[in-house]
Order: sequence, then structure tokens, then C-alpha cells
Amino acid sequence: MIGVFDSGFGGLTVHRALIEALPGRDFVYLGDNRNAPYGGRPPIDVLNLSCAALERLFAEGCTLAVVACNTASTVALRWIQQQWLPVRRRDDGIARNVIGIVVPTIEAATGIGWDEDGTAVQQTKQSSTIAVFATRRTVETDCYPIEIRKRRPDITVVQQACPELAGSIERGLPRHDLHALVDRYVSELLRKLGTAPECVILGCTHYPLVADLFAVALPSGVRMIHQPDATARALKAYLDRHPEYDGSHAGRRRFLSTGFSTEALPLIETFWGDKVPFVQA
Ligand code: DGL
Repeated sequence: MIGVFDSGFGGLTVHRALIEALPGRDFVYLGDNRNAPYGGRPPIDVLNLSCAALERLFAEGCTLAVVACNTASTVALRWIQQQWLPVRRRDDGIARNVIGIVVPTIEAATGIGWDEDGTAVQQTKQSSTIAVFATRRTVETDCYPIEIRKRRPDITVVQQACPELAGSIERGLPRHDLHALVDRYVSELLRKLGTAPECVILGCTHYPLVADLFAVALPSGVRMIHQPDATARALKAYLDRHPEYDGSHAGRRRFLSTGFSTEALPLIETFWGDKVPFVQA
């Protein structure tokens, strides 16, 4: 069973790509809607909430979890992988792993991945200016610029925090209000940059739900990285290298939520194409 965790509904954008790429695997999704948005929370809150969510997924029987949330990935994932998981493993003797979405996204944007032995591998010629739209907390970590520059120091990275966007999507704000918000954040970015970026990362799981609004607001010809597809490719490759972390093959699906207001459901169901059968976590 593979767990997928997000602060709320946004991770469904990633979840859908994962189940399309690996239809035979068993998946459980956990949205921590009750505590969303994470993007303005202090880092220690994000860390504690992320560990609590992962514990819940482990209790469901997951031995591999994908942290779909950018905020949780940028703030907490390294600590979780390096400090928390080894202690848990020592305590209960079960090998589990947790992977995130930042590295696959950056590999898609820069065209540079790392080999198993740590050698940089160039795949394609890529952009010289990347714009990153993300939550305030993700922007503050500088995780995207730092990780991009490790691979491509020549690339200019400009970040734009969108502090109201994920919460507004989560609360089901009307589309014209979301449109105005996206326009505002894109205008701020373009003003800072003074020109069009060559490539854009929507570095928050909620933003693909309004990707069309970003596409309209951005100058034409800007390449948009599809984080869910990049994550799905990375998960597939990971399972090929590490089959020990999941052997499920019944195609089971389970959707857990810590609790949400129903106002965002129309947007979510339009995206999903059906009702999502959430149960209380
Ligand atoms: N899902 C989170 C992310 O990808 C953002 C939403 C939030 O602020 O909770 O960053």
C-alpha cells in the first residue's frame, strides 16, 4: 500500500497522476484539510503535522509514502528522512520510506537528474530563467532555488509567494476571485522579473487545479512543468529500484480526510471527474 499525503485537496492532482501511472498498486490518500493551509504555518507546526499524517498512513499499512505537499516537502522532508524514519525503524523494526515531490520537479525543470552514484546526468537542454509559484513557507525555505542551482548554477530562479491562493482553493472561493488572485501573483512575478520566464513551476499541489488561470495570465510560450507527472515518473522509477517498499497489486483506493468544508467539492469533483469517496481520518 502506497500512502499519499497533502495538507488538503491539492494533493489529489498528484494522486491522480500516481494512480494513472501505477494502476495496479494499492493507494491511500490522506488530506489534512482540517489543518490546511500549511503554507502560512510555522515550520515546527508543518513538521509535527507531517509526522502525524505519516503515522496515520503507516497505521493504514503503508510502507512507502509520497509527501505530495510542497510545503511539507520543503520544510520537513529532509529531517523526516534523515532523523525521524531511522528512529521509527529502530523502534518497530519495519523498513519504511518517504519520498517527496521537489526533486522530481526540479529534474523535469532543469533536465538534470542524479545517477545512483551521485553523478549529474543531463537529459535535455533547458531554460535559463525559472519562475516558481509557491506558498509563503515554501518560498522562505529557498529549497527550489538551492536545489536548482546545485544542478544548474547558470539558471536564474525567481520565486513568487501566493499566500492566499491554496487556502482560497481549499475554501472553494468562486472562480472569478481565484482568477483575480492568480492575475495578481503573476503580475507581481513579471514586474520583479522584467521579462517572461522560460519555464514555470507551480510549486504547490493546489495550483494545478487552477493551471488554466496561470496559463492565461502568463505570457504565451512559457513552459509549465507538470509536477504530478514528474512525481509519477519518479515513483515508478523508485519502485523499480526498490521493490521491497511495496508489493501491492489489488488496485485498492482509499481516501481519508481529517475534515473539510464542502464548498471546495465542486472544483475537486470537476477535476477528479467524479465524487471522491472521502472518509474521516
Ligand atoms: N499543498 C500545499 C503545497 O503543495 C499547499 C497548500 C497549503 O498551504 O496547505 O505547498
